[in-house]
Amino acid sequence: ESTLPDVAERTLVAVKPDGVQRRLVGQIIQRFEQRGFKLVGMKMLQASEDLLSQHYSELRTKAFYPSLLQYMTSGPVVVMVWEGHNVVQTSRTMVGPTNPVEARAGTVRGDFSTHVSRNVVHASDSPEGARREIQLWFQGQELVQWDCCDQHCLR
Ligand code: PPS
Repeated sequence: ESTLPDVAERTLVAVKPDGVQRRLVGQIIQRFEQRGFKLVGMKMLQASEDLLSQHYSELRTKAFYPSLLQYMTSGPVVVMVWEGHNVVQTSRTMVGPTNPVEARAGTVRGDFSTHVSRNVVHASDSPEGARREIQLWFQGQELVQWDCCDQHCLR
């Protein structure tokens, strides 16, 4: 009998344009797979200003907002939906603090980034935020349900 939670949590992780340009996509995916999370959606796209203005709607009044949009439209992004136990909070820990100055080695930002304006990845900050962002970036049919072939990947 399984003691695992039956309702899996989901989060949105995006490799930002600098991460794609620096060929970090594979290493970032590898970290989430290795941790035991399940990939249920993934695509590469050139994000529009309209999409990004919705994604970052809470930041519209910030001084860095125009440069954030310019950065996020400077090349394609790879957006992913990962599923698993406490995936939202665990992903934030794996990604590291927003400002790479505070990010420890071993986190994505701590290993690959020096500046908040080129911080390589995005990860949703709460389960509610994750639901909102997943709906914004993905159509329902783009998320894939799949089962593991053995006991090892049941987490
Ligand atoms: S805030 O001010 O506390 O609301 O911002 P924060 O939650 O720390 O960050 C929200 C997102 O804005 C990005 N950010 C920046 N981008 C460019 N330049 C500067 N100076 C900057 N400061 C913050 C930050 O990376 C967050 O993006 P996401 O995609 O959520 O990681």
